[in-house]
Amino acid sequence: MFTFSSANVAITNLPWLQKYRPATFDDIVGNEPSINVLKSVSKNGNIPNFLLSGPPGTGKTSSIVCLANELYGKELAKKAILELNASDERSVGVIRDKVKAFAQTKVTLPLGLQKFVILDEVDSMVDPAQKALRAIMEQYSNTTRFALACNNEDKIDEAIMSRITKLSFTLLSQEEIAKRLLHIINQENINYTPEGLQAIIFTADGDMRQAINNLQSTYSGFGMINEDNVYKVCDVPDPKYIMEMLKRCIRYEVKNVFNAVNKLYGEGYAALDIIQIMMRLMKSASEKDIEEAYYHDYLMEIAKAELVIKSGTDSELQLIGLVASLCDIAKSISRKKNY
Ligand SMILES: Nc1ncnc2c1ncn2[C@@H]1O[C@H](COP(=O)(O)OP(=O)(O)OP(=O)(O)O)[C@@H](O)[C@H]1O
Ligand SMILES: [Mg+2]
Repeated sequence: MFTFSSANVAITNLPWLQKYRPATFDDIVGNEPSINVLKSVSKNGNIPNFLLSGPPGTGKTSSIVCLANELYGKELAKKAILELNASDERSVGVIRDKVKAFAQTKVTLPLGLQKFVILDEVDSMVDPAQKALRAIMEQYSNTTRFALACNNEDKIDEAIMSRITKLSFTLLSQEEIAKRLLHIINQENINYTPEGLQAIIFTADGDMRQAINNLQSTYSGFGMINEDNVYKVCDVPDPKYIMEMLKRCIRYEVKNVFNAVNKLYGEGYAALDIIQIMMRLMKSASEKDIEEAYYHDYLMEIAKAELVIKSGTDSELQLIGLVASLCDIAKSISRKKNY
C-alpha cells in the first residue's frame, strides 16, 4: 500500500527549478563549446580561473556546479568549495573577509586539485570589490581557483578579464529548450499539446529558468499545457494576435490595427510587452508570414520603438505611433511594387 510520507511530500513539492537542476553535464543542453571545455577540465583536473558570461537562465551556474560535482564529489566539496551567490555577498567586505579567509585556509586535497571559489553576478560587484578579488586571485593562485559568472562582461575589471579563461554562453535555441522541457514533461507525466509546448518556448525566449518556471506555473494553475493556459499564466499577449496585427499593417487596414491596439491596451498589456513580442515574431517570421520586402524596414521601426520605450516612455501613444509608421511603410512599399 502507498503511504504518504513526508519525504514524498517534500519531493513532490520541490520547485522544478530545484528538482531538475542539472547534476551532471549530461543534464545540460546547449552551449556545447563551453560545456566541452568544462568537461575536459573535469577529466584532467587542471582548473584554470574561469569567467562564464552570458544571458540569465542559460546554464552558467549549473555547469559550474556540475564541474564541481565531477571534480570534488559531495564530501570533498564541503571543505574545498566556497560558493557565494547571494546578492549581499558582493561587497568588498565579504570579498576581503570570506574569500580571503577561505583562500588562506589549509585543506588537504588529492594531488592536482585546488580549492574552488564560485562567485555569481560578478558584474554587480562594485569596483573596489572587483579589485580586491583580483588581488586575492593573484596572491592565492597556487592553491585556489575561481569560477566567476556574469551577465555582462563589459562590467568586469580588465585586470580580471586578462587573467581568466572566458566561456561564453548564449540564449538557448528552441530545440534545446524543447529537449529539456520534454524530459521534465515525461518525468512528471504532464498532459500537453505541441502548441502549448511551443508557447512556453516562445515566452521563455532562450531562458531555461523562465521556461521551467512557466511550465510549472501553467501545470499547477491548469493541470494541462496548452496555448491558452500558457498565455494566461505568463500574462503576455497571444503572439498569433500580434502577428495578425502586423499583417493588418501590411494590408494597410489602419482602423483595424488601431482597434487591435486599443483592445490589447484595454486588457492591460504594456506597450513594451507588445513591441517585444513583435520583435521576436519578426526575427522568427517566415516569408509566408512577412514578405521579405517589408522585413528590414519593419524590423528597424520596431527596434526604434523598443529603444524609445526602454528609455522611459511606455505609453499607448508610442504603440499607436509605431503601428501608424508600419502602415505607412506598407503603403509606400506597395506603391513601389505597383509602379
Ligand atoms: N543549459 C541548461 N540545461 C539544462 N537546464 C538549464 C540550463 N540552463 C538553465 N537551466 C535550468 O535553469 C535553472 C537556472 O540555471 P542557471 O542558474 O544555471 O542559470 P544562469 O545562466 O547561471 O543564470 P543567471 O545569469 O541568472 O545566474 C537551473 O536550475 C536549471 O534547472
Ligand atoms: Mg547563475
